[in-house]
Amino acid sequence: MIQLPGLIDPHVHMREPGGEHKEDWDSGTAAALAGGFTLVLAMPNTKPPVTDAASLELALSAARGKARCDYAQFLGAGPDNANAAAALAGRAAGLKMYLDQTYGPLRLDDMTLWMQHFERWPAEMPIVAHAESRSMAAVLLLAQLFDRPVHIAHVSLREEILLIRKAKERGLKVTCEVAPHHLLPPSPYFAEMGRGQGEGQNQIPPPVSSPIFSENGGGLGRGRGGRLEVRPRLNTPEDRQALWEALDVIDCFATDHAPHTLAEKDGPNPPPGFPGLETTLPLLLSAVHAGRLTLDDIILRCHTNPRRIFNLPEQPDTWIEIDADAEWTIRAANSFTRCGWTPYEGMTVRGRVERVVLRGKEAYRDGKVTAEPGTGRNVKAF
Ligand code: NCD
Ligand code: ZN
Ligand code: ZN
Repeated sequence: MIQLPGLIDPHVHMREPGGEHKEDWDSGTAAALAGGFTLVLAMPNTKPPVTDAASLELALSAARGKARCDYAQFLGAGPDNANAAAALAGRAAGLKMYLDQTYGPLRLDDMTLWMQHFERWPAEMPIVAHAESRSMAAVLLLAQLFDRPVHIAHVSLREEILLIRKAKERGLKVTCEVAPHHLLPPSPYFAEMGRGQGEGQNQIPPPVSSPIFSENGGGLGRGRGGRLEVRPRLNTPEDRQALWEALDVIDCFATDHAPHTLAEKDGPNPPPGFPGLETTLPLLLSAVHAGRLTLDDIILRCHTNPRRIFNLPEQPDTWIEIDADAEWTIRAANSFTRCGWTPYEGMTVRGRVERVVLRGKEAYRDGKVTAEPGTGRNVKAF
């Protein structure tokens, strides 16, 4: 048994209010605990989106009644809420700006609106940007011009991580996160990665099968097949290689847990997103097993750095216990997320969460979530 600090996930879509058939604060925080996360930061692209005092209260009251682990809620940057959002900053995990194609209505195209938010959101409080490729370059310029920190969500491309490295070298206040599926993608991308890097050493064994992508497009091409839809899109082997080589530039691993039901994923308008809370730590531990990461790499990026970047309080008497060698097969049927599927279905991994203790109380043990709904705390409630 190995003990780790309670993990912090800075990027989770809880779907409540408005998308409770995909996930709610109860099922989502149960999934978090099962995955080793004791503190989650919830994204604002709910229905309605969290953009003002009333919608923030809607999300937080649901969380108060149902959350089983600790949490904080992001505010979303909209076209006309720069002042309202800034006034609520103390109650939020941070400000989230959607600057590229995503799920939900929060995308902002107009750079004058970006500037309003950069101007008014309190200095030194986190702004998180969904900004890909050239929008990411633009947002780095804003961070420079307004001299304030920005955190780049789910970095997936070689050009992005190279630019972030350069920006950090120049002293810009930029931090970033990478999602597990852009480092350790589900099959068939996973197997392709193995081929791309040669036989043998330091490879996580490819999954035995990938039944999850065998229908509806077969997952043969980028963006084909609704189940493969995710933003940013699954990246190329060259992009992944660049991310692995720039591990020192990656501040956090974030699940970007984005649950949608299989009916939606297989339907005519498949929404982008993968669930990730229950598979991320096992995938990372498998990478440790394969010699590609260390446990300290995980602690730094799933606890120490997110805590610092988002000014999160210590969770006293909180830890997780893992069996780093346990071999098991990922099955959606054994998960707590309500969405009912995982892109990693059938994959055999090494490393399992055995027990979670949150603020002195057992919250998860041997496949059972023991923390009650409503026992999670808002770490940004003052
Ligand atoms: C996210 C979602 O479903 O809310 N989807 C995704 O593909 N990552 C939105 C997002 O994180 O941009
Ligand atoms: Zn996003
Ligand atoms: Zn997201």
